Amino acid sequence: MRRKFIAGNWKMNGLKAQLGEVESIAGAASDNSGVDVALCVPFTLIAPAVAAAGSMPVGAQDVHAAQSGAHTGCISAAMLTETGAGLVIVGHSERRADQCESSGDAWAKALAARGAGLHVILCCGETEEERDAGQTEAVVAEQIAAIPGDAHGDWLTIAYEPRWAIGTGKTPTEDEIAATHGAIRAKLGELAGKEAADTIRILYGGSMNPANAAAILALSDVDGGLIGGASLTAEKFVPIIEAAA
Ligand code: G3H
Repeated sequence: MRRKFIAGNWKMNGLKAQLGEVESIAGAASDNSGVDVALCVPFTLIAPAVAAAGSMPVGAQDVHAAQSGAHTGCISAAMLTETGAGLVIVGHSERRADQCESSGDAWAKALAARGAGLHVILCCGETEEERDAGQTEAVVAEQIAAIPGDAHGDWLTIAYEPRWAIGTGKTPTEDEIAATHGAIRAKLGELAGKEAADTIRILYGGSMNPANAAAILALSDVDGGLIGGASLTAEKFVPIIEAAA
């Protein structure tokens, strides 16, 4: 039985002035102990957010694949763990688009993070053109194809985020979400075996909000959400946590 997992992604938002939101969200996480909650914040906010979050895990939104070296401006997995991070997002579509990251890059980062003891949220998702062309399942399968045979839910979570649904207010239909999550679960089974695949949580991301969360979270193979805009305030994020509880 997979526990529901609600992760917030603050993207490039959040200064110390917003730590009160972290405290309120952590309070809700503590009140809803049947669901796992985490918040992925900008690098600069990890340490103060860890201090404000109590037992709620705080994560990062990217990590470098190398352990150290001449990579100006980059952050290693060991640096994240030393700062108190417990997880990291890799392969987010905004990084694939803005920083030209490939699926191979994302997987190299995932392995570095795993090696440092971080939980990994690996993102995948198609563009609107790819969906219209009927390529959704093929695109997502390619994006997670590097997952090794020893993958396990202890260290790996998948986030399915249709790119065209991110920050747009648009979402796939419930049938479409369930179908894609089912296809991801089947692909995980091919890559790591059915038993391991059943331990790996698959989150939905893309315009999830307090109004649509309960219906999406009830779908087959949807084990939680990766939430952007609606995770920035406790007012919007806490009802999503409660919908998952
Ligand atoms: O990482 C989160 C996703 O990109 C979803 O963002 O909830 O603002 O659509 P959104």
